[in-house]
Amino acid sequence: MDLQKINEFAIKLIYDAGEQIRESFSKELIIETKTDANDLVTNIDRQIEQCFVKKIKELDPSHKIMGEEGLGDKIDTLDGPIWIIDPIDGTMNFIKQHRNFMITVGFFVDGVGKLGYLYDVMRNELIYAIRGEGAYIDHHPIRKLEPLTIEEAIIGINSSWVIQNGKINHEKIANLIRTVRGTRSYGSAAMEIALVVTGKLDAYLSMRLAPWDIGGGMVIAQEVGAVVTNLKGEPFNLLSNDTFLIANPSIHQKLLDEFIELK
Ligand code: IPD
Ligand code: CA
Ligand code: CA
Repeated sequence: MDLQKINEFAIKLIYDAGEQIRESFSKELIIETKTDANDLVTNIDRQIEQCFVKKIKELDPSHKIMGEEGLGDKIDTLDGPIWIIDPIDGTMNFIKQHRNFMITVGFFVDGVGKLGYLYDVMRNELIYAIRGEGAYIDHHPIRKLEPLTIEEAIIGINSSWVIQNGKINHEKIANLIRTVRGTRSYGSAAMEIALVVTGKLDAYLSMRLAPWDIGGGMVIAQEVGAVVTNLKGEPFNLLSNDTFLIANPSIHQKLLDEFIELK
């Protein structure tokens, strides 16, 4: 399998998709809800995923596709080549802000991440990685993450978890917020992962993400030395939703040991 060739193919596909999304702002947007009133999808999410599916199947019909909008294949095993795609991560931001959303794509073979992409459509900024060959931002190499202390860290976290809730000990999260230098919340998991792999955030945690939110980011994380697990410290399960933590390696274990207690 020629990974360089597949990488070139993927980069072109992602830039083309970005162009389609930017052009869509001058056209009618059809917004629908999915599982609840805040779970939004638009005709553009579907259009972009459809475009990925068509082009990937033209490249190689044996490649399987796991896409958020379900236009690819039904995936119940990670065997063989699989593309994991979120055509727009941060759909609420896409609709309301016209910014702060990403296209994210991961290419896996037998469950091993080979290629990963995080594309900030409105900034036209592409982060990608090829397994074993490093990570790049707009084709410039990204350096490995530098160590730091928890007190120096900026953490991506949703404010819901500081309020009493059924999933995580909120007092420990409040203590985390008191301890770190700052917190941020962007509304796009892929964007928060992009910030961690480039050292602009030092960790990001979530109580529930899907494989397509993080597949591309996982491959990039590995190349810069960021650690990815679920909130129990186990590998993230790419066949279901799971809790999620990505962090600078110098603080990952401390976050799990001292500040995260699942209920
Ligand atoms: C969502 C965003 C959001 C995260 C949600 C995701 P979507 O993805 O990444 O930041 O908190 O869990 O579902 O629906 O906009 O692709
Ligand atoms: Ca998503
Ligand atoms: Ca999405």
